[in-house]
Amino acid sequence: MTNRLNVQDLKPKDNVVDVYLLKVITLQESKDGKKYLNIVLADATGDVEGRVWNHAEEIMKVVDRGDYVKCSGKVNFFQGRRQINITGLEKVPQSSINPEDFILKSRQDPEKMFQELLSIVDSMEDVYLKALLQNVLGDEEIARRLKLWQAGKSVHHAYQSGLLEHILSSTILGEQLSRHYGVNRNYVIAGNILHDICKIYELSDGANVDYTEEGKLIGHLVKGVEIVDRFSYRIRGFPYAMKIHLKHILVSHHGEFEYGSPKLPSTSEAYLVHIIDMMDSKMNAFEMCKRLDNSSGNWTGYIKHLDRMIYKAELPFYDQFIEEENLPASPPTSSQTSSPTKEKNFAKQELKQNLGDLLGGIKISK
Ligand SMILES: [Fe+2]
Ligand SMILES: [Fe+2]
Repeated sequence: MTNRLNVQDLKPKDNVVDVYLLKVITLQESKDGKKYLNIVLADATGDVEGRVWNHAEEIMKVVDRGDYVKCSGKVNFFQGRRQINITGLEKVPQSSINPEDFILKSRQDPEKMFQELLSIVDSMEDVYLKALLQNVLGDEEIARRLKLWQAGKSVHHAYQSGLLEHILSSTILGEQLSRHYGVNRNYVIAGNILHDICKIYELSDGANVDYTEEGKLIGHLVKGVEIVDRFSYRIRGFPYAMKIHLKHILVSHHGEFEYGSPKLPSTSEAYLVHIIDMMDSKMNAFEMCKRLDNSSGNWTGYIKHLDRMIYKAELPFYDQFIEEENLPASPPTSSQTSSPTKEKNFAKQELKQNLGDLLGGIKISK
């Protein structure tokens, strides 16, 4: 990575003069009728919001979503989050930047993930489902896209190779949980691998991922049904009932009508694929919010899509008992006559510990 001031390292009061990817730009009007711009800037380390208070309409005419822009401004703290007060925004030519500086990537190697996925397919007992998956994953263009694509625009696994990471993680969970619940692992593995694979048609690639026309008009659930047809026709005698059950898993994997599933999961295998999908996407959303958040203290800022703030510090852990002299005084039990002094001491100790945690381990004198 070249020498830039990364989004991750921006701190309140920092003066910024650097190039970022313009992810969002919207013209807004304040209560007093003044036009301003809502901006989201990004690089390979995360996103940051910004506001342009002057010359909003002129700037809107010369820069666009997806442009690389040189941003001048100052970082401040607004409602618990960093925000750049932008004074200048100008487009820079794509030839002058290194695209690698602006693409957030999976921490796992896509080639290794893909091989692991193939070896799980190899372990399947059902010859038809196994052949179907080998055909799908053996398609050069599908494999190429799968190794690069994000699983979403912003909510979960929203980084390069995120889709493959999500599919592999779900498939590993599916393998283990289908054994645990005694359901047909072949369908669960096939469902986990195929459930989101058509996001390679639903989303674009590159630094500024967006929904394609096909994504907006058709979507990955319906495209999933298409892919089952397209590849199962190549396998002689592919059982019709098997195709129906596999398609059912794909169309029902969002679990509820309001999340875009035309059918509710009605087999144990479909329900398991749905639960795993939800679990894996939420766990990743938690992980990424913790990783990319820059608020000070133990909590992230408010996260809209999770409708909460997240506790981001490590939870207390002890691999051995605390030494006797460092133990807080025990509270008096009900059988003991409680002495007001003892209770007070205990409360004091707890308060001290709590404050200590809050202040991030700063020692409080007795
Ligand atoms: Fe999905
Ligand atoms: Fe998914």
